[in-house]
Amino acid sequence: MSDNYSTGDGFKVRDLAMAEKGRMKIDWAESRMPVMMNLRKEHTAKQSLKGMRITGCLHVTKETAVLIEALADAGAEISWSGCNPLSTQDEVAAALAAAGTSIYAWHGMDTEAFYWCIDKTLEQKPTLTLDDGADLIFSVHNKHPELMDTIIGGTEETTTGVHRLRAMADDGALKYPVIAVNDAETKWDFDNVFGTGQSSLDGILRATSVLLAGKNFVVAGYGHCGSGCALRADGMGANVIATEVKPTAALKAVLNGHTVMKMDDAARVGDVFITATGMKDVILGRHFEVMKDGAIVCNTGHYDCEINIEELEAMAVSKRTIRENCEEYTMSDGRRIYILAQGRLVNLAAAEGHPSEVMDMSFANQFLSMVRLAAEGRDLDASVHDIPEEQDQHIAGIKLATMDHGLDELTTEQIEYLDDYSAGT
Ligand SMILES: NC(=O)c1ccc[n+]([C@@H]2O[C@H](COP(=O)([O-])OP(=O)(O)OC[C@H]3O[C@@H](n4cnc5c(N)ncnc54)[C@H](O)[C@@H]3O)[C@@H](O)[C@H]2O)c1
Repeated sequence: MSDNYSTGDGFKVRDLAMAEKGRMKIDWAESRMPVMMNLRKEHTAKQSLKGMRITGCLHVTKETAVLIEALADAGAEISWSGCNPLSTQDEVAAALAAAGTSIYAWHGMDTEAFYWCIDKTLEQKPTLTLDDGADLIFSVHNKHPELMDTIIGGTEETTTGVHRLRAMADDGALKYPVIAVNDAETKWDFDNVFGTGQSSLDGILRATSVLLAGKNFVVAGYGHCGSGCALRADGMGANVIATEVKPTAALKAVLNGHTVMKMDDAARVGDVFITATGMKDVILGRHFEVMKDGAIVCNTGHYDCEINIEELEAMAVSKRTIRENCEEYTMSDGRRIYILAQGRLVNLAAAEGHPSEVMDMSFANQFLSMVRLAAEGRDLDASVHDIPEEQDQHIAGIKLATMDHGLDELTTEQIEYLDDYSAGT
């Protein structure tokens, strides 16, 4: 591994000289994350995480820095790595390292470095793990099972990670309790929909600067993330085409005014493609074969397996980086196909990830789950646990109040009416 980096006791980042710029980004995020700042104040006073060693593996962005520093202020020792080779914001990593956080993360690392960073963070011997995509939990289970003795529990941030951990739990392979942060209403229904929707379009626009109005915008997977992307593309005047494998999701897309078709058909008409399925090989060779000249293809699902770039590489006669985060592949018949961010999460690799306002709620769930695990994790069994409904309502309530929206409350009579089965017409 080349050593053209800033390294020190407990950190390896691109360049510590970027720290000041990173700190300003973190300050900006803090000013837009009132729920997190509220929790930080409360739990700094209570020292709710005193004695905890938290190892995290989650995109190193300015919002994550707010989460990390809140966890540290609440008494935890932290060691962190990024969960995607292209999502680390180097200036933020530098600011964290300069402030004394143990962090191993830089933008553009290869797979070997990715797992080296995870291994370095695990030297901390965590009591709690915090994941986005479950790579950290897998590393503990597969490479460092001896660490399991001290681990109380963990959390998982994203859909794909939760799927895999549930599969592990079903097989009896999961060895400690994990809280499914992704499945909280204040995460899945906001971060995945509005966060991914806005930031994925932001990534596409930063990488291409194309006009979306009038374009055929193909969204593969009309779940939380896909419907968010569709909503925003529709708002910018694109014709949204959804592809799905689940009838109810496809039907929702139709009733929201979109066209639904098979990818084999969408491939011929699409101008911009985005995958948001969590599934592999959604766009592959036979689709590239029929795409229009100029088609733009990207992914916002967690792993970079949704677009089969190897098949495109094998078909193309040449390739060049035409813009930052935009590779042009020329086919033998002269058609050009553009892949954004190497098929990795376009919102994090080509833009800044979700806006701070929405990460405020996702990370409030992470933070409160860490506090819950510290207090009662030893009593939870080794399975995937949901966020309690009260936590969702509590977080949404604080968020609404900080946004200055009024909220009615049920009266006593109304509460009684809810349970009154004798009332009729
Ligand atoms: N970019 C980000 O910042 C970000 C944020 C949150 C989640 N994610 C990731 O995005 C992915 C999707 O998450 P989600 O919360 O929307 O999941 P979801 O389960 O709500 O939606 C996924 C949809 O894809 C559909 N699907 C599956 N295979 C398909 C295929 N071959 N073709 C067409 N549709 C298919 C499913 O039926 C489902 O409706 C996951 O990998 C998740 O981890 C990314």
